[in-house]
Amino acid sequence: MVTYRSPREWERMREAGRVVARILRDVRAAAEPGVPLTELEAVASRTLKEHHATSPFLHYKPAWAPYPYPANICVSVNEVVVHGIPDGRVLLDGDLVTVDCGARLGGYCGDAAVSFMVGTSDEAGARLVETTRAALEQAIAQAVPGNRLGDVSSAVEETARNAGYGIADGSGGHGIGTEMHEDPPVPNTGRRGRGMRLREGLTIAIEPLVTESGRDATVTLADGWSVATRDGSRAAHFEHTIAITGDGPVVLTAL
Ligand code: MF3
Ligand code: CO
Repeated sequence: MVTYRSPREWERMREAGRVVARILRDVRAAAEPGVPLTELEAVASRTLKEHHATSPFLHYKPAWAPYPYPANICVSVNEVVVHGIPDGRVLLDGDLVTVDCGARLGGYCGDAAVSFMVGTSDEAGARLVETTRAALEQAIAQAVPGNRLGDVSSAVEETARNAGYGIADGSGGHGIGTEMHEDPPVPNTGRRGRGMRLREGLTIAIEPLVTESGRDATVTLADGWSVATRDGSRAAHFEHTIAITGDGPVVLTAL
């Protein structure tokens, strides 16, 4: 069931979204070569507490997951596309890292992700990151009343594929509000002019998951959560929570 939300509710989601943005800022600042992923988790946990917010990721248990998600954030390195669990692994110079983070505050949720290079960035990695960010930006621009969901999805897919990249199989965003995952699903592939009509008040997370090799296939790793590219190529992931309004899309997870 799709829920349409009022400007008052956007405002509450904005408060949760601001916490998400601060966590991403703080975690990114801490992400240097030699730092273990558990340290990034500790930074996120501290920023959540400071704002009296909680993580909608922690203990989240979708039907397909073998056990509840054990951390506040996801940290996905290089070939890991999404849902990487922050463990004792140490960041290396040149790693491509994605931090995905949510916050729940006052009963409303925000969800956002960024990818970046740690230390020295290679040109190919920088281009992958920049194209994935652009795919999110293009998709957000399509999130206006009167457009269709397929306009958002196709903007993600075309931006990635036109650059020679792939889209992680089955990936996409979601409605978001009082729950992190609500209807409708927001696929990362689709066709312009198709799908549900977008109306004012729809609040969604848009999240391109883009592969460097151009191949879409993924595998779930032994921990049952981490999803990696099947061919081992790198992936990047950006996400924002947005509200569709009469004045255009409003990003709720900006600083
Ligand atoms: N942004 C990711 C998503 O919407 C966050 C996953 S949270 C987790 O799927 F708890 F499932 F890890
Ligand atoms: Co999400």
